[in-house]
Amino acid sequence: MDEKLMDRIIKLCKANYPVHNWEGHLMPVVDISLRLCEEHKADRGIIEPAAYLHDIGRVKVFDYLKIIGIGHEVSGYHYSLFKLWQYGCMDETRERIARCVLEHCGTGLSKYSPTSLEAEIVMNADAIASFDQYLYLVAIFYASHGRDLKKTKEWVLGKLKRDWETKLTLSGVKEEIEPGYKRIKNELTNIPKNNWMYGGSDGVAKLQESFHQQPIGGKGK
Ligand SMILES: [Fe+2]
Repeated sequence: MDEKLMDRIIKLCKANYPVHNWEGHLMPVVDISLRLCEEHKADRGIIEPAAYLHDIGRVKVFDYLKIIGIGHEVSGYHYSLFKLWQYGCMDETRERIARCVLEHCGTGLSKYSPTSLEAEIVMNADAIASFDQYLYLVAIFYASHGRDLKKTKEWVLGKLKRDWETKLTLSGVKEEIEPGYKRIKNELTNIPKNNWMYGGSDGVAKLQESFHQQPIGGKGK
């Protein structure tokens, strides 16, 4: 891969991915993609730029496309084609990179599934990063959906289940993820008894009651 082109792609991504997404999702996807690239002897010149660009359709302001039913993989594909052309990448490499962006969602969310080893690697890395960084998913959903812990846990479990079923297609990947997935499922489904967060108004009343029972200021000594 042309170093100058790679620099421009990284610069473009740095300017557009929010810092939390860069740290909590993008860099893990890039790292995992490069590891899988080596393991499967794939083309790094395609995988590295594609890993950086895979969610560019989500983070650029393409909300109006989403509203009319165009997913981030499709908007990201067209945007990647355009930017790569602008950066002077005009041969078949441009289409191969952009197709990885188009095909990274897998069959769970999109009608486009991988047609190359490189696209399959980016799709797998995208899913593995969700398992590795599931606390990032928890944090981001919790903060943006009314701080509802129950709903957050359900959403994260649903997303991981979908990724598990549709995106972990490379040999050996499910085996690698399975112990961690079991642990996550345990953590997110085991609700401590008497947890006020799940007790509604009754739970809140119990919590308030327990606060009032606390001695304040070391009373009685
Ligand atoms: Fe992603």
